[in-house]
Amino acid sequence: MTSKTWAIITGASSGIGTELARELAGLSYNLVIVARREERLNQLALELKSKYSVKVQVITLDLLKDGACERLYAETKDLNIEILINNAGFGLCKKFADTSMDSIKNIMKLNMEVPTELTRLYLKDMLKTGSGYICQIASIASYLPVPYYSVYGATKSYLRHFSNTLYYELKNTGVSHTVFNPGFTRTEFFDVAGQKLVFNQNIISQSSNTVAKRALKAMFRKKRSALSSFINWYTACVIGTFIPKTLIANFVLRDMKKTHE
Ligand SMILES: NC(=O)c1ccc[n+]([C@@H]2O[C@H](COP(=O)([O-])OP(=O)(O)OC[C@H]3O[C@@H](n4cnc5c(N)ncnc54)[C@H](OP(=O)(O)O)[C@@H]3O)[C@@H](O)[C@H]2O)c1
Repeated sequence: MTSKTWAIITGASSGIGTELARELAGLSYNLVIVARREERLNQLALELKSKYSVKVQVITLDLLKDGACERLYAETKDLNIEILINNAGFGLCKKFADTSMDSIKNIMKLNMEVPTELTRLYLKDMLKTGSGYICQIASIASYLPVPYYSVYGATKSYLRHFSNTLYYELKNTGVSHTVFNPGFTRTEFFDVAGQKLVFNQNIISQSSNTVAKRALKAMFRKKRSALSSFINWYTACVIGTFIPKTLIANFVLRDMKKTHE
């Protein structure tokens, strides 16, 4: 099978990003995989090249560093990028008052500024060719009040709102724009965030492979927005609309307190 054009995945060294890379390689896309942990990326590149005979370019990059987005674009702009997936992101499960300002700024930068800047850089080229897919990985937290994740949830709300609007600007351009919202997914996210999932969170959690497959399905179907499961859709769109936010926030707060106080 011959390889197609190129896809870029940020945050490909673990979790959902690694599975997105595996799935796209399985569809014969050449890949640019980006993250800070070089060894992980190199291992993944080896695996994908040998299993699927695709080209894989590893870019070891801290997207929080000044000029990182321009550097990534400069290194890849000649590759005819067809797919951009802004997946890199992190959150901290902590009381806002106890969170350092540096951490808050980093969450805001990685989850909002970086995807916005990368989208603008690659979109211009996609508009010239009249084709391409952009997918933002937001979160179910963008729909609901999640105490202890106030900044994280707000950054994902930004990403979802930005995406839901950009989708309409891009209609009839040939470039599609999707925002995909995972719910609890078994990845390193919770180790990084410092959250231990409680029983009811664990039982509804999904594997990163399932979530990646659903994200790609939504993206290739050119959906404006999607959630990763029926339960997540029901929680975000039905419970989130019809149940008062104060009840939802107090329910989540009760679970958060179990692991924090
Ligand atoms: N897991 C969930 O339950 C869940 C739910 C909703 C939404 N999400 C979203 O899904 C996306 C993927 O998260 P995940 O669950 O797969 O978590 P994960 O396993 O922790 O993966 C996060 C990825 O982001 C990369 N990353 C973090 N900081 C970076 C930086 N400064 N520069 C470059 N790359 C960086 C990490 O790589 P390095 O550490 O190697 O840099 C890693 O590859 C995130 O946007 C997250 O907010 C996750």
